[in-house]
Amino acid sequence: METAARERIRAAYDPELFATLGGRMVERLTAHLRAIQSGETAVLNWNTPTENIDVANSLLNSGDGTRNTSLESFTAAVQTILDRGQNLHHPRYVGHQVPASVPIAGLFDAVGAVTNQVMAIYEMGPFASSVEVAMVERLGQEVGLTPGEFTGFVTHGGSLANLTSLLTARNVALPNSWQTGISQDCSPVLVSHAEAHYCIARSAGILGLGTDQVLKAALDDRRRIDPNQLDEQLTKLKRENRPVIAVAACACATPIGAFDPLEDIADVCEKHEVWMHVDAAHGGAAAFSEKYRHLVRGMDRADSFIWDAHKMLFVPALCAFVIYRNREHRFAAFQQNAPYLFDPTQGDIAEYDSGLKTIECTKRSAALGLWGLWSVFGRQLFADLVDTTFDLGKTFHEMLVDAPDFEPLHEPECNIVAFRHVPESLRNAPPDVLGSFNLRLRRDVMESGRFYLVPTASDGVGALRVTIINPLTTRDHLAELLDTLRSQGQQLRESMNP
Ligand SMILES: Cc1ncc(COP(=O)(O)O)c(C=O)c1O
Repeated sequence: METAARERIRAAYDPELFATLGGRMVERLTAHLRAIQSGETAVLNWNTPTENIDVANSLLNSGDGTRNTSLESFTAAVQTILDRGQNLHHPRYVGHQVPASVPIAGLFDAVGAVTNQVMAIYEMGPFASSVEVAMVERLGQEVGLTPGEFTGFVTHGGSLANLTSLLTARNVALPNSWQTGISQDCSPVLVSHAEAHYCIARSAGILGLGTDQVLKAALDDRRRIDPNQLDEQLTKLKRENRPVIAVAACACATPIGAFDPLEDIADVCEKHEVWMHVDAAHGGAAAFSEKYRHLVRGMDRADSFIWDAHKMLFVPALCAFVIYRNREHRFAAFQQNAPYLFDPTQGDIAEYDSGLKTIECTKRSAALGLWGLWSVFGRQLFADLVDTTFDLGKTFHEMLVDAPDFEPLHEPECNIVAFRHVPESLRNAPPDVLGSFNLRLRRDVMESGRFYLVPTASDGVGALRVTIINPLTTRDHLAELLDTLRSQGQQLRESMNP
């Protein structure tokens, strides 16, 4: 019994088997990327959740897992993932803010995954931890921070990154709140961009502030925080003796990609001595671009900011950076005593124990993909990716302006564009009819596999939204998108009014 178990385990760990299956995986992935990037296949082979769950169950190996069946079952499993997945590398993918990641980054992630380099403490992933520190230093310098003065870390996603930053802000604004919680009568608030990602309000819920204590900062006509009104809002809060945990600005906000005027907001926050936080999950990458760097000017004055490399730095999820301008805040989020993990006599190494700064204890070596891309291609690649996709956002806007049956909902600052299809027959339709038509059209297009774009709402009315986050998408693909919306829109109208 013991021997049979050992034998099966040895088979699972066999490096020769790894070589065979690894070769097969690279072969299948290469064929997949060739097909998908050529644009000849569907963007998404739509299946319902029930169908996919059945297939997932059907592939589970009920045999004894020995080497004889491995190549076959491995190939079937890999191919099923490829056949049933979302094809972000398809040039007609213009959906959520998840990129067609540079495939080579995935190879670096695979090295980390296969050897299971983790962190929490430096000793468990010494090089992966060092890569993370090196990348924090580079990204901070890209936005103009001074080496040696700032600090940061990587965490599993923008939501967690915002939560951790705001936890630090809370602990700084309300000393002892980590130990004592928040007193009912002090009623602190968080002032946030009115269209910030939902994880900001969620953070307020988690941090014990309460989502009702998230006060919206007024926006200007381009849906950016209005610094004058912010100044008035903070003055009023001071008069009312209400502690402000932070002002959470956006670079950029999710709905239409609006970048807040960070320099002006920094002036206001400095004047009121309020923590300035910037959610630069999407737009931080603008710092790499000569052409678009101006959009994040002032981010170096924020007390904290976050930046998702798994968005506009085109690495696979998840790799989110938190950066504090002031090194002294690096241990301010958590105050944990865990003698089995953190050794207080090793102060020099504790600096590099990520678990002291992050919500995670065990943490994936999430920065390897970014570091790997930078090692192979250099920083210019990131500038090229930003320029190409942001430029195309502007081109798409021009195409919408020129098309009488489309209505752009804003002038884009980056690669996020919201719009509606307004065919002639719906030009005078009530807003809810036009909104529902656009939402149904989006679903039809998604299910057809022709394009992948996402729904949104503007002023409560349904609309369409694209993020051009595959640098292989071209103007021609976008012209095809408009034609597809026209033809599928026509079919939809006919089915609604037979
Ligand atoms: C501006 C912004 N902040 C935060 C997030 C959340 O990031 P994540 O999905 O990595 O948790 C998003 C996601 O799209 C976002 O657009």
